[in-house]
Amino acid sequence: MEPFIRRLHQMLWVEQTLADELLPLVYERSDAVGLKYGVERHRRETKQHVMTVRTCLNLVGERQDGIESPALLGLREELGENDLELADFLAKSEHLEIAAYTWLRSTANALGAEDVAMRLTGVLEQEQYALELVEKETAKLLAESVANG
Ligand SMILES: [Fe+2]
Repeated sequence: MEPFIRRLHQMLWVEQTLADELLPLVYERSDAVGLKYGVERHRRETKQHVMTVRTCLNLVGERQDGIESPALLGLREELGENDLELADFLAKSEHLEIAAYTWLRSTANALGAEDVAMRLTGVLEQEQYALELVEKETAKLLAESVANG
């Protein structure tokens, strides 16, 4: 399977696993209101990403099957328990997605699949914004932990 197609199938699995398993787990474990709000918000976007990646697979004539991502399985091992660890997990998963979609988008453009590239751009922008929110929330949590000694 060529790398572009394989990576799209992997991102389907990544989005599904985040939406159905990992983001709900982070929500459950976290105490920080801001973090919980951000997770719930991004979970709704993530469900939409599942649909978008399905559409992209369809556009390139592929079946809508997910392929396990070893990178996300690795991140899952260090999910963490407290708010700072959970925020760190969220940031790492966004970096994983941003790296994947950046590569997928430029490859789609190189292959002349502009319709796919356009959809991937929409997803990429939401991942970048989600990372920004997590970074702000992390700064807040750090400031609180310093203030509380
Ligand atoms: Fe996503």
